[in-house]
Order: sequence, then structure tokens, then C-alpha cells
Amino acid sequence: MMRWRQPQARLKALWRALLRLQRPQQSPAVWRGRDTVSVAMVCVLVALLASWPLLVEPSIRAGMPAPFTARAPKAATVVDSTALEERRLQLLPRTTVQIVDQRASLAIQRRLDTSLSQLHDRVDRPAAGLSAMPLTDAEQGWLRSLDAAGWAQWERDLRQAQLRMLSQGLSGGLAESQLLTAATLHLDELPPIARGLGARLLGRSLLGQANLRVDPSLSQRRIEALISQQGIPTIAVRQADLITRQGEPVSPQSLDVLDYFGLVNRRPRPLAWFAVFAQGIAAAAVMVLLLRRARACLEPRQALLALGSLLLVQGACLWLGPLASPLVLLVPPTLLLAQGLGTAAGLSWLAVSCLVLPLPYGGLADLRLFLAAGVAAAGAIAAGRQRSRAELLQLSVLLPTAAVLLQAGLLQGRSQLAQVDLLGESLLLAGLLLVGLLLAPLVEQLFGLLTRSRLLELADLERPLLRRLSREAPGTFEHTLMIAGLAEEGARAIGADVDLVRTGSLYHDVGKLHGPAWFIENQTDGANPHDTLDDPHASAAILQAHVDEGLKLARRYRLPRPLADFIPEHQGTLKMGYFLHQARERDPAVPETAFRYRGPRPRSRETAILMLADGCEAALRSLPPNTSEAEAQAMVRRLIEARLVDGQLALSGLGRAELELVIRAFVRVWRRMRHRRIPYPIAPRRAFSA
Ligand SMILES: [Fe+2]
Ligand SMILES: [Fe+2]
Repeated sequence: MMRWRQPQARLKALWRALLRLQRPQQSPAVWRGRDTVSVAMVCVLVALLASWPLLVEPSIRAGMPAPFTARAPKAATVVDSTALEERRLQLLPRTTVQIVDQRASLAIQRRLDTSLSQLHDRVDRPAAGLSAMPLTDAEQGWLRSLDAAGWAQWERDLRQAQLRMLSQGLSGGLAESQLLTAATLHLDELPPIARGLGARLLGRSLLGQANLRVDPSLSQRRIEALISQQGIPTIAVRQADLITRQGEPVSPQSLDVLDYFGLVNRRPRPLAWFAVFAQGIAAAAVMVLLLRRARACLEPRQALLALGSLLLVQGACLWLGPLASPLVLLVPPTLLLAQGLGTAAGLSWLAVSCLVLPLPYGGLADLRLFLAAGVAAAGAIAAGRQRSRAELLQLSVLLPTAAVLLQAGLLQGRSQLAQVDLLGESLLLAGLLLVGLLLAPLVEQLFGLLTRSRLLELADLERPLLRRLSREAPGTFEHTLMIAGLAEEGARAIGADVDLVRTGSLYHDVGKLHGPAWFIENQTDGANPHDTLDDPHASAAILQAHVDEGLKLARRYRLPRPLADFIPEHQGTLKMGYFLHQARERDPAVPETAFRYRGPRPRSRETAILMLADGCEAALRSLPPNTSEAEAQAMVRRLIEARLVDGQLALSGLGRAELELVIRAFVRVWRRMRHRRIPYPIAPRRAFSA
């Protein structure tokens, strides 16, 4: 038994380390009713999309594995709809029927009228020059010689000729010379000058114009006529012929035969739909619970992000049908969630999406989904550990490469593979990942995600808020750096999130910027303004203000929620002992609650470690150089014990054993500090030798 338990515990530890799971003791943050309702509504939408095909699609589709074995009950001749559709597509370009559009014809006739009236004006008033059409001297002479009846006759002839040309249909792309030849032929009976001028006028009115439009119903009729002429493709079925075998993919021809014998259900199937719908709701709800368990401080908008990306991927699946690539759909959201909310969140999303995606299934599609899930899971585990955007960039190149190699290797030799463009798919995935990387800061900001790279960026001492702290409250800044060192070591000792603790420590006291001189570490001249104030209640309010102002600054500088939590939780509901003592000296009935911080108490191991480091820092710094390690340890233990007894650590999930490790870690840091302060005995002559 013992021999078995050990590897099991090791496996469990490995699993937790892989997922970077936080402690389960932490209870999830409370959501407002409105938020819970909106998350529940999106869960319903997810389930609706997952079960949608059962409402609108037939029970059997070509390509899916047959749910039963079927034999033909009698001989029949069934229309082969696939071959019919193919033939129709082939015929399509040859069977477009066009008819004359009367409205377009009228517009073209009006063009000729305008040209004629312009010509008339020009003959009447030669100076007008309205028409740009050049006229020869002979033509001008002929026009002038015309009387009113002659004009009218010529115009009638021209209109008649245009009408004849239009009635045959006019396409827009005809060459000018073609139009001129046709017009000349139509005006054949006129004398040469009248014919030449008329043909040019007609040509000008028709050039670039069209009066044809496609008539869909006539085109359809012609296709049908052609198809019935050529014969409708059919499938001959004899009695007891095998139509499909259970589990084998249904071919389009078998589907036609099944449909002929009434074996395909095209009506909605409420029972089957409800089963899938319920499964969808359960899957979405379990995902939200898993996310909240993996990250207790999960915000509703982050749950909505996970559900929303699920909806988006489902929609893409329904829209693209068999063209949907599981690799392209699954990998980017999994990586985003693993980076922003942790590996466990990414893996939960992946598992649920595999369940609720309306992807085509069976044969190759199953294998591709399986591969995509494998690549996405590997990505999620890797992404949860990436510490910089450069590493993520590497990942977004490596993952698609691995995917293309894996797919090529495993799917090799399958005939259906020809339909899948492996390289194109991987390039699309790489492109999506790179775009995602570019947009990542925006998404992080919008959804309050705290990716590891963002955490490290925020720990940069050149960030504006930290620069301000070092300039305006140098003592607090120094204290902050010390605390960060202590807390980081403590977090490392118990396997807590070191990056989070380090960055959280840097921002924990930014609220002191509202009045640095009120805090002892910034009082360089030894004068304490609290003595001048001489009002313990006011002094307590000033201390509480460093928490409230800190939260305001966190909002203004858009610090993510897990970092902002360090500000109130590092003080918890600690007693302001000094001022309480002063107040009680004046009025023994003063309630203790008036001299306690408003909290909340630390709700994670990380904020609890910061509270302990904050409490020990000044005391450790003031220990004389000759203090022994045991004395330092005893002092730290006393300080931590006091906070434990006060109930400050009750919600943090820190256990006794972990506290012991934290105490030792703090003393280790103190030892390092002491070493730094003790000068090395360097011989005067060798002082500059190294
Ligand atoms: Fe503080
Ligand atoms: Fe502090």
C-alpha cells in the first residue's frame, strides 16, 4: 500500500505543478446576481448552438458513420442527386437565358432623340456647335437642303432601324465598327449621305449600351429541358441490396437511396435535441465551475470571455461545416485562456469545446479533432509557463510546425487527406496566433487578464507608478523592495506564485503617496507629524487612507484585480496598536474596531505572505548584527504567531507547515542582508588588486 501511495502522491504533485493549481481552500469570489444571470444565459446559448444541427439538419448526412445497417426493401430506381447537381453545374454556363429589358431600351431610344434634336439645332443655328460629331461639307449641305417632311421621314427611318436593332438585344461589349456595319445594313434603302450620317448617329446612341438581362426562370427551364433531353442520372437498386452498413461512412448515393425508402428523418428530433442541449448546458456550467476552482478570483467578464470564445468557435463550425479546421479553431482560444487564466483554465475550455463543438465526426474528422486537441493541450501547458512575449512568439511558430508534421505523419496514406490543405491550415494557425499576440495587451486590458508576461512587465521599476513612488516616497520605495525580497523567498519556499508575490509587493503601499511624511520610513528629520496632530482617531484614519488611496491609484493606473488585492489584504483587519493604546489612555471605553484596518483579510497564500513579510521587515532590519539565527527565527515566529492568533490568516489557506517554511525563508533573507552589511576584511595593499 505504502509503495503505491508514494508514486501516486508524486504523480499528483506533478499534475498540480503542471497545471499551476491554486489551493482549493480558497473559496471563489462572490458574483452579483446580474453577473450570474448573464453567465447562465451565455451557457444556454452555448448549449443551443451545440444542439442546433438536431433541429434543422436531417438525421443522416453524407460522410457520417451510418447509425444502422439497411437493405433495400424492394427494387427501385432512385435519382442520383449528386450526379444531377454535377450535371446541372456543368450546364449552367451554357443555359443562361437573356431577354430584352424594355426600360433599358427606352433609355437608349432617348439618347437617339437627344442626338437628333442637337443635330437639328446645329443646322438651324450653325454657331451653336452643340454636337461634337464632325460633319462633312456634303453632309451639312444635304441637311440644309432637307425640308420639314424630309427631316421627319429621315428621323422615322432612323428610329425604325434602332428599334429593329434593339429588339434583337444589345450587349454592352460590342465594337463600334460592328454597330456601324449593322446600322448601315438596317438603313440600306436610304441614299448614301443619309445612310452614312444615320449609321453614325445610330452607332453613337448604341455604343457601350446594353438592354439584356438574365431571366432566371427561363434559364432554369432550359436547364431542365437539357437535363431531361440527356436523361436524369439514376441509381438502380435491386431488392435486398445492401444500402449502408452500420459504422461505415454514408456515401451521397446511399443517402439518396435511404431517403427514397423514407429512412432519413428530416423533421426536428426534440428528444435527441434535448439530450444534446442538456449535455451542452452541463458542459458549459462545469467549465465555469472549473475556471472558478482553478482561479478563485475569477471575474464574471473572464467567464464570459471563455464562454464567448466557445460561442464564436461553435458559430464558425456551423458556418464552415465540413471545411472547419479543428486545429485553427481550438488552438488560439486555448492558448489565450491558458496564458490569461492559467493552464487549468485553458485545458478546461479545451475539454468542453471538444464536447460541444458541432464538428463533423467520424473517420478522418475524429482523428483531426484528436490531433488538434493534443496540440492545443501541449500549447496550454507550455503557455501557462511562458514568461515573456518573446517566448510566446516562439510558441506561435513552433505549434503550427509541430501540427503540420504530426498531421502529415499520422494521416499519411489516407485517401481523404487530399481534401485537407495541411500547410495552408498551419499557416493560417500561425497567422492567427501572431495576430492574437499583437492584440493580447488589448484583450488583457479589456478582460482584466493577468498573463505572466504582463505580470513581469508590471514589475518593471521604470513603470510610472513605481517611478513616482521612488521619487515622492523614497523610504516607502526602499521598504517595498525589501518586502519584495522577503515575500518572494517565502513564496518560493511553499511553491506559491513567485511572480505574483513580487509584483504585488511592489504595489502594496502605493497608497502612501497621498502623504508620504505621515509614514515613519519617509521621516528623515526624525519629526513625526502624528505627535503634532495628537489625535489617535485622525492618525488611524490616515493609516486606513493608505489602503483606500492605494485602491484608487490601482484603478487609475489600471492594475489588474489580483494585484490590486494586495493593497487591502496586506493590512487585513490588523490592529493599529500604537494609536489604540494612545486612545485608550484618554478614554478606556474606545472600541477596538475603530482602530483596525477595514480588511478584507488575506484571501490567498500570496497576499498572506506579503502581510507576514510586511510585519517582519522592520523588526528584522532592526536586529543587531550579532543576533543569532535562532534568535531571529524566534522573533519572526512570534510576529507570525500573533497574526495567526488574531485570525488574519484564516482565509488564506496557509497551513502550519507552510508557515514554518515561510519563517525559515524570511530568516534566510535576513542572513543574506546581514552578510551584505558586514564589511569584508580586505588588506590595505590588496585593496585595488582585483
Ligand atoms: Fe501598508
Ligand atoms: Fe508595507
